[in-house]
Amino acid sequence: MAELVWLNGEIHPLETATVSVRDHAFLYGDGLFEGIRFYERKVFKLDEHLDRLYYGIRYLDFEMKVAKSELRQIVLDTCKQADEQSGYIRINVTRGTGLGLDPRNINRIPNVMVMVSKLRLFPPEAYENGLTGVFVSTRVIRHDALDPRLKTIGRYVSNIYAKLEANRQGADEGLMLNAEGYLAEGTGDNLFIVDKGGVIRTPHIASGILGGITRKTVIELARGAGYDVREVSMTTYDLFEAEEAFLTGTAAEVVPMCRVDTRPIGCGKPGEVTNQIISLFREETKNGTPF
Ligand SMILES: Cc1ncc(COP(=O)(O)O)c(C=O)c1O
Repeated sequence: MAELVWLNGEIHPLETATVSVRDHAFLYGDGLFEGIRFYERKVFKLDEHLDRLYYGIRYLDFEMKVAKSELRQIVLDTCKQADEQSGYIRINVTRGTGLGLDPRNINRIPNVMVMVSKLRLFPPEAYENGLTGVFVSTRVIRHDALDPRLKTIGRYVSNIYAKLEANRQGADEGLMLNAEGYLAEGTGDNLFIVDKGGVIRTPHIASGILGGITRKTVIELARGAGYDVREVSMTTYDLFEAEEAFLTGTAAEVVPMCRVDTRPIGCGKPGEVTNQIISLFREETKNGTPF
């Protein structure tokens, strides 16, 4: 497949697409991104990702020149040109180019990138047997420092540090708490548990998590299948008392998590509810936007 990049109006092969070293995200992390999947030549939840991106652009006051409808078409056209059945799309939008923090002193023409590529987060066995999680010491960034709903490039230094902690402990994923000690999310995914009564729970947005698009999809699918799904505050107690746990994300998709801090969750194997959600999710991925 061609790994292609649309960058500021031009298509490049991956290797030759470049931005200035004074790009504000390169210098300060001052940019936003979206990770999107396409399955069988259909882009999954494209409008939801674009909405999240453009809310971020408005909140951070980027002087975005490319309209949402235009970017939507660029994504579809770039996928078509890459001519691959399934893969991963990365959109980056940065504030512009220039040295110094003050946006008034830089060229406020956002650098806009759409990359069509491949991404594998967890090994295929994780979806069959479940993955392992560990609690890490890195807390999610407080909402009064940086709103967690913003998918900013700079925020991810913290998530990468959390991932390093998980790697050191030999776990597949690191689980982060918020500053108050409530469960928040994984380094690149949202957390769900299934309790003994079959109720599905997931940390509330106010716990300091990214409002995941896969999370929202799973909530809707589970409710549609008759489950009671609650967005609540949860502690580690809730997780260890749960019968099942799973993670959701564009890259992660829906993946069972069967051990945390080496302790089994429920019976230590992917549970029935999780497997049903995985099936529903896989079915839902057929409903993307065709290119
Ligand atoms: C920190 C974090 N939480 C949750 C998610 C899941 O979000 P989504 O389902 O929109 O991919 C991501 C995905 O990028 C993430 O980085």
